[in-house]
Amino acid sequence: MGEIALLVLLLNGLLMTGDTSNEDAVALKVKLQEARAQLNPQFLSLTIDASLASDPKYITFLGSAKLRTLARGLSPAYLRFGGTKTDFLLFDPNTEPSLEEKLYWKSWASSGLCEKRHLPPVVEKNLQTRWPFQEQQILKEELQKKYKNTTISRSTVDLLYSFANCSGLSLIFGLNALLRKENSQWDSSNAKLLLNYCASKQYNLSWELGNEPNSFRKKAGIYIEGSQLGQDFVQLHYLLSNYSAFRSSGLYGPDVGQPRKETQKLLKSFLKAGGKVISSVTWHHYYVNGRTASEKDFLNPKVLDGLILEIQNVFQIVNETVPHRKVWLGETSSAYGGGSPGLSNTYIDGFMWLDKLGVSATLGIDTVMRQTFFGTGAYNLVDANLEPLPDYWLSLIYKKLVGSKVLKATVSNTDGIDDRKLRVYLHCTNSNYSKYSAGDITLFVLNLHNDTRNLQLPSSLSSKYVDEYMLRPAEKDSLLSRTVQLNGRVLKMVDDETLPTITEKSLSPRSFLSLPAFSYGFFVIRDAKAAACI
Ligand SMILES: *[C@@H]1O[C@H](CO)[C@@H](O)[C@H](O)[C@H]1NC(C)=O
Ligand SMILES: *[C@@H]1O[C@H](CO)[C@@H](O)[C@H](O)[C@H]1NC(C)=O
Ligand SMILES: *[C@@H]1O[C@H](CO)[C@@H](O)[C@H](O)[C@H]1NC(C)=O
Ligand SMILES: *[C@@H]1O[C@H](CO)[C@@H](O)[C@H](O)[C@H]1NC(C)=O
Ligand SMILES: *[C@@H]1O[C@H](CO)[C@@H](O)[C@H](O)[C@H]1NC(C)=O
Ligand SMILES: *[C@@H]1O[C@H](CO)[C@@H](O)[C@H](O)[C@H]1NC(C)=O
Ligand SMILES: *[C@@H]1O[C@H](CO)[C@@H](O)[C@H](O)[C@H]1NC(C)=O
Repeated sequence: MGEIALLVLLLNGLLMTGDTSNEDAVALKVKLQEARAQLNPQFLSLTIDASLASDPKYITFLGSAKLRTLARGLSPAYLRFGGTKTDFLLFDPNTEPSLEEKLYWKSWASSGLCEKRHLPPVVEKNLQTRWPFQEQQILKEELQKKYKNTTISRSTVDLLYSFANCSGLSLIFGLNALLRKENSQWDSSNAKLLLNYCASKQYNLSWELGNEPNSFRKKAGIYIEGSQLGQDFVQLHYLLSNYSAFRSSGLYGPDVGQPRKETQKLLKSFLKAGGKVISSVTWHHYYVNGRTASEKDFLNPKVLDGLILEIQNVFQIVNETVPHRKVWLGETSSAYGGGSPGLSNTYIDGFMWLDKLGVSATLGIDTVMRQTFFGTGAYNLVDANLEPLPDYWLSLIYKKLVGSKVLKATVSNTDGIDDRKLRVYLHCTNSNYSKYSAGDITLFVLNLHNDTRNLQLPSSLSSKYVDEYMLRPAEKDSLLSRTVQLNGRVLKMVDDETLPTITEKSLSPRSFLSLPAFSYGFFVIRDAKAAACI
């Protein structure tokens, strides 16, 4: 009996050590000598859609302690406040704040700037109760393409700024580009009121002007040439340089939608006229239409690869007009039209989100702004109940583990052809994360195959310890799960002020990196001594 037990143990031991000669494993190839790109430290960034201010009382959501804790987890990042409604917002320093905003400011009158200031729970509950109705209103405007102007007060700007600043995010404010003079030039008088106010409060923020100018005609019956918009940016640039607070603040644009033919033309003429005054070229990208998207789209390598061509098109235009200027995905998500309910807010969205981060970094996009952190629609990182969704956790782990330097990694199938269903991306590990040291590398992988795939590290790395961070759906093993588990443990907030600890699973040297069917995850290869990362 004893002998048999020992034999079983021995056999188990042999089976568990993960023999590197297993022919089922796919070989990973890497290049660790030099970085192929160096990204913005705020590469993964966020947006709040300006529709949240369609009725300014809903901006008060941004006073929620929970929302701020979640936002802080993703710092450093930009927070872009923009979207269609950008071009329908008017600032009036003399307008009264909403009751909800007043209650919020009152709740903090006595304490410090960021600490201990909470949206009173009764206000939060009340906003949540009425929010579905407000969402319907916003959706109706969007469907009918009939947008109403909204006036925002100083309080709305204060709330937005304090949310960003107290969460460690750098605010980018989109100015209204549809305010025009007779001669079709941009009318900057309303922007001046806002700049005066922000300067008086010593707010440090940066700027955009207009959202998706390629569809101004559809949204407002106005057509604006790219060259005109370029001149408007030049005007804004001179206006900003009149303020000591904004002389060196960023100016980004033109936030064009998907760069199809006409939009490419607009982008080109914009860059010719105004390219010299912008810090980064911004454009928007969505893979699919939220109303028609299917589960299959999210797992389809062809759909994911579509982004590559679009990025190349934009780089070509930038190369011809303002070479070497940084290029940003200024607003991006899986599906346009508010995302796809049941898909964009579940585990399956992570395939599009993580792959977008991987592809963009690899091709040299400097910053990617996720539409949205919180707001209307299904594509948010945090839902209307202020609960973080799977993409929130994915973003949090990405932030912790993935550094700014991009390395090269490839896998090929048995025919030596790129396997587009097993997508690998490699960066230096984020050196700010105290758990890891310079020279460590972070690999992230998406398995779009319907069976488990094993990756084998190259022999130069096979003796290294590896930390695994595998994300799987938490509900019934369904890709449409709204909760997610990390290495088998469901991720959830400890309380409104505390995020859970992100815990690795240590793999011993010579283990395979095992990826279940339809899954994604991260692997930190410790002590990799990658020359590019030291
Ligand atoms: C690392 O930390 C420094 C200092 O806090 C910060 O300036 C930088 O943006 C951080 N980089 C990343 C990638 O988080
Ligand atoms: C919004 O306000 C501006 C400035 O007053 C005006 O020119 C424009 O027509 C208004 N737009 C709508 C949709 O009411
Ligand atoms: C911005 O935040 C920092 C702390 O992160 C704080 O010291 C500073 O006062 C804030 N500034 C404003 C204008 O809110
Ligand atoms: C304003 O913010 C930018 C980055 O967001 C930073 O580089 C700059 O130093 C800040 N300026 C001031 C005056 O705090
Ligand atoms: C900047 O200020 C100068 C002097 O105050 C003024 O003449 C000029 O018109 C201003 N420029 C803009 C774009 O507002
Ligand atoms: C743009 O120029 C860079 C070099 O400045 C080059 O690496 C890249 O291939 C060019 N891209 C396109 C699409 O022309
Ligand atoms: C797995 O995918 C392959 C094609 O990639 C297909 O032939 C096979 O039927 C699929 N298996 C299952 C169980 O869906």
